[in-house]
Amino acid sequence: MTTTTAATTAHPAVGTAHTRVEGRDKVTGAARYAGEIPFAGLAHGWLVLSTVARGRIRSVEDGPVLRMPGVLTVLHHGNAPRVDIDFVSMLGTRPDPTAALFQHDRVPHAGWPVALVVAETPEQAREAAETLVVHYEQQPHDVAFTGDHPDAYPVDGHMPAVTEKGDLAARLAASAVVLDAEYTTPEEHHNPMEPHGATALWDGGRLEVVDSNQGTTWVQSELAQMFSLDPSSVRVRSEHVGGGFGSKGVRAHQVGAVMAATVLRRPVRLVMTRRQMFSLAGYRSPTVQRVRLGADADGRLRALEHTSLSVTSTVHEFVEPSAGVARVMYDADAHHTANRVVRLDVPTPTWMRAPGEAPGSYALEAALDELAEKCGVDPIELRLRNEPDKGPVSGLPFGSRNLVACFREGARRFGWAGRDPRPGLRRDGRWLLGTGTAAASFGAGAAPSTAAVTAEADGTFTVRIAAADIGTGARTALTLVAADALATTRDRVRVRIGDSDFGPAMIAGGSMGTRSWAWAVDAAARDLRERLAPGGTIPPEGITARSDTSAAVGALPPVERHSYGAQFAEVAVDVTTGEVRVRRMLGIFAAGRIVNPLTARNQLVGGMIWGISMALHEEAVRDRDLGAHVGADLAGYHFAAHADVTRVEADWVDDVDPDDPVGIKGVGEIGVVGAAAAVANAVWHATGIRHRNLPIRPDRVLRPDRVLRAAGGAPDA
Ligand code: MOS
Repeated sequence: MTTTTAATTAHPAVGTAHTRVEGRDKVTGAARYAGEIPFAGLAHGWLVLSTVARGRIRSVEDGPVLRMPGVLTVLHHGNAPRVDIDFVSMLGTRPDPTAALFQHDRVPHAGWPVALVVAETPEQAREAAETLVVHYEQQPHDVAFTGDHPDAYPVDGHMPAVTEKGDLAARLAASAVVLDAEYTTPEEHHNPMEPHGATALWDGGRLEVVDSNQGTTWVQSELAQMFSLDPSSVRVRSEHVGGGFGSKGVRAHQVGAVMAATVLRRPVRLVMTRRQMFSLAGYRSPTVQRVRLGADADGRLRALEHTSLSVTSTVHEFVEPSAGVARVMYDADAHHTANRVVRLDVPTPTWMRAPGEAPGSYALEAALDELAEKCGVDPIELRLRNEPDKGPVSGLPFGSRNLVACFREGARRFGWAGRDPRPGLRRDGRWLLGTGTAAASFGAGAAPSTAAVTAEADGTFTVRIAAADIGTGARTALTLVAADALATTRDRVRVRIGDSDFGPAMIAGGSMGTRSWAWAVDAAARDLRERLAPGGTIPPEGITARSDTSAAVGALPPVERHSYGAQFAEVAVDVTTGEVRVRRMLGIFAAGRIVNPLTARNQLVGGMIWGISMALHEEAVRDRDLGAHVGADLAGYHFAAHADVTRVEADWVDDVDPDDPVGIKGVGEIGVVGAAAAVANAVWHATGIRHRNLPIRPDRVLRPDRVLRAAGGAPDA
C-alpha cells in the first residue's frame, strides 16, 4: 500500500508537444496489428469475390477445392450461418448488408463476396480461393455515373436531404452577378496503410475478435446483433490500427472470420487484400455538384444554391452529403441545398475523411473564387463580406466561429497582401505560378462515452476506455488529459484502449473521438481525485472511478458548433507536360484547444496532403463493360506520395470550445476541407483556366476543352 499524494502540476500537459506514447513500440515492431498477433491452431480465410457486376450465383463448385491441401471449409450462400441485419447501430445507422456474407444468391456488384475458403495456411487458402469455380447467371448492369440520371432521388442521411429558404429564381434574377457552374469529383478510396483484418475465436463460451477498427464497442454491438449473441458474450479488441479514415467498421472480414470460427471451432483469421479493399472497404462516392450564386456587385450573396448527386449501391443507401457545407458557411436571402443519390450496380460508398465537406467544399469554395473574379473582389475579402451572424439554415447562434481570424493570420503568414488577382501572369521558366485560397469548416460534436480511471497501489494511474487510436495520437492525447485532471505527470498515467470490455465509447470518427473520450476521461479522473483523500491509503486492487458522459453531452447547448480553417496554396503548372506541383501550402485552423501540438499538426497536415491528392491525383476508374475497377491497387490508384508534397504547414489560432470541459473541438477532418479548392483556385490563378473536374490531371491541364463530365470513370470524350 502506498500513500496518496495531493500533487499539483504547475505546468499542464495539455497544450505541450509529446511524441506518441506507443511510438517506440510501433517503430521497433513490438506493437502488434490485428493480422499479426499469433494464436495457437490458427486457420486462415481467403475471400472469393464476384467477377460479374450483376446477376445470380448458379453454383459454387466447392468439391474439387475441398480436396486441395490444407483446405478446411468453403462457406457460401448455400451453407453459411444465417445472420440478422435488421437493426439500428449505436451510431443510429443501419448496417450495410454487404457485411452480411453469403445470405442469398444475388450479386449486386463486381467484387461482391461470394465464398470464403478456409485452410491451414494463408497460401493454401489463397490457392484454393483462386481455384474455386463459381458459375453465375449474368444480368445487364449499370455503373455509369452521370449528372443527369433520371432515377436520382433525395436522401436524408445524417442531415435533411433538402433545405430551402427564399425564392431562388427571383433572387438570381435580381442579382448583379450570377455564377452557375457544375463541378465533379471522382470515386476516391481510403487506402489505409494497414488492410482490414480480424481473427475470431470462441473462448470459454465467449466470442473474441481481434480486429483493426475505429470502435471496439461499435463492432462488438453490431456483431452481437448480427449473430444474435448477448453483447456481454462478445469481446472485440483493436489495440493498434494503421489508419481507417471512415472505412473500418463492421465489414466482411470480421463476419467471415466469426462464421468460420463458429463452423470450425478454431481461431480463424481473415485479412483483405489491397485489391479486395477496393470493393469491400467502402469508398467516397463520385459527385456531380451544381453551384449557383447570385451576388450584389460588391460580392454580397443574395442567392445560393448547392446541389449534389452521389451514388449508392442497390443494397444499401449511403449519401455523400456534399451540399451540407453551404448550410453552415454562407447565408443568402434565397438559400437552397439538396443531396441526392442514384442507385447503381456498384459497392456501397461510406464515410471517408470529411464525408460531404471534402467534395462539397471543393465545389463551393471554387465557386466562391469564381464569384470573386466576376465581382473583382479579393477572394478573402469576398468571404469576409459574407460572414453570417447565425446559422444560415438553422438560425442558431455560432458557438465560436473564428474563420476571420484564420484568414487574417493565414494571409499574413502566406504573404497574400499585394497579390495580383489577374490569372496567367507569373512565370518561372516553363512553369506558370499562381496562388489560391479557400475556407474550411467541419462539425465539432461530442458523443457519449464511458471511462474508468484507477489509482493503483504503486502510485500510478490506469485509464480504461474503449477508444481507438487509428494513428491519430489519441492514446497520447488522453494520457495528457488524464495527467492534468489527476494533477499528476504523464509518466504516471497509462492509458488502455481498444477493448470493448471497457464499456461503451464513441468511435474514432466524425472528428469526435478524442473530444468525446477526453470528456469521459476528464470526468472520471476528477471524480477519482476527489475521492483520494490526501494521505489516505490505496488498497492492492486500487481505487476506481467511472464516468458516463451521456447526460452531460446530451445537455450541450444547441449552437452551430464547428472547427474552421483558411487554406492557402501556391502551385506551379508545367505548360509543356501539364503537371501541377504544389510548391507550398499553409492552413490556419480554429479547431478548439489543441491537446498535443505535435500530433494535432500531423493530423492537419495529413488532411491537407489528402487535399493535394484529391485535387491532383486520386481517381478510381471503373470499366463500364466489366463494371469493375481498372487498376485497383496502389500502382493504378495514385495518391500524393513524398515527391508530390513539399512545404505543407499547419498552425492554429486561439480557439476554445467553451462548452467542452477541456475546450476541445477536434482536428481529424478539418485539414482536408477546402484544401482541394485552394489548389484548384491556385491552378486558375496560374493558368486562367477553371478546372471544375477533379483530379486536375496533366491531360486535362493540356486539353481543358476535352474535359466533359467524367465522374465515375467515364472516359473523357
Ligand atoms: Mo471519419 S470519415 O468520421 O472516420
